[in-house]
Amino acid sequence: MSTLAYLKSLIKDRNVASITPSSRYTVQKVTRKIDFSRDLTIVEYGPGTGVFAEYLLEKMSPASRLIMIELNPDFAEILRRINDPRVSVHQESAEQAEAIARNCGAQQADYILSGIPFSFLPPPVKDRILSATHRLLREDGYFLAYQTSTHLKEPIRKHFGKVDVSFEIRNIPPMCIYEAQKNGQMPGTAVNGEG
Ligand SMILES: C[S@@+](CC[C@H](N)C(=O)[O-])C[C@H]1O[C@@H](n2cnc3c(N)ncnc32)[C@H](O)[C@@H]1O
Repeated sequence: MSTLAYLKSLIKDRNVASITPSSRYTVQKVTRKIDFSRDLTIVEYGPGTGVFAEYLLEKMSPASRLIMIELNPDFAEILRRINDPRVSVHQESAEQAEAIARNCGAQQADYILSGIPFSFLPPPVKDRILSATHRLLREDGYFLAYQTSTHLKEPIRKHFGKVDVSFEIRNIPPMCIYEAQKNGQMPGTAVNGEG
C-alpha cells in the first residue's frame, strides 16, 4: 500500500526521492539514540506515509509530541489520518521548522529526524535547514538523518562539529545514517550563518 503511494507520488514529485518507505531495520537504527523514558518533543522532516511515526508513537510517552513536516500534499493527507493527540502534521518545507515548532508551543526539540533528499537542495537551502535544525535542538539533542549516500557528512559536521555515520544495507536502497549531537561540537567551530 505504502509502496504504491510512493510510486504514485514519485511520478508527480521528484522530492519524494524513493520508491518505497524505509525498512524496519532503518527505522530501528535511525532511532536507536532516542531515550523514550522521558517526555519528548520529536520533529520529523519528510515523514512520507508515516513509517517512522508508527514506530515512534508506540514508544513515546503520553505527554510526548511528534511534529511532522511533510512537503508532499498527498503524503500530508495520509499522515493526517493518524488519530493520536501527540501528533501534528504540517504540509510545509523543513525550512519552516523553527516557526512550525514555535507555533506548536515547542521552543526546542529533543530529537530531529530527517529523510528529506538533501542532495536535491541548493547549497544555501541545505545550509539554512541545517542551521535552523541546530538552533532548534536542545543542548543535548540529536539530529538523526538518513540518506542514500555519505554526501551529508561534511555539511552536518560544519554545523554540529561532529557526526557519526553508519550504514543499513537492509533497505531499498541501502541507507547511510547520520547521528549528530548538538553539544558534540568543538567550541568555536559551529557555523550558524546562512550560506
Ligand atoms: C526518501 S522519502 C522518506 C520518507 C519516509 N520518511 C521514509 O523513511 O520512508 C523523503 C520524504 O521527504 C519529503 N520532502 C522532500 N523535501 C522536503 C522538504 N523540503 N520538507 C519536508 N519534506 C520534504 C518527501 O515528500 C518525502 O516524503
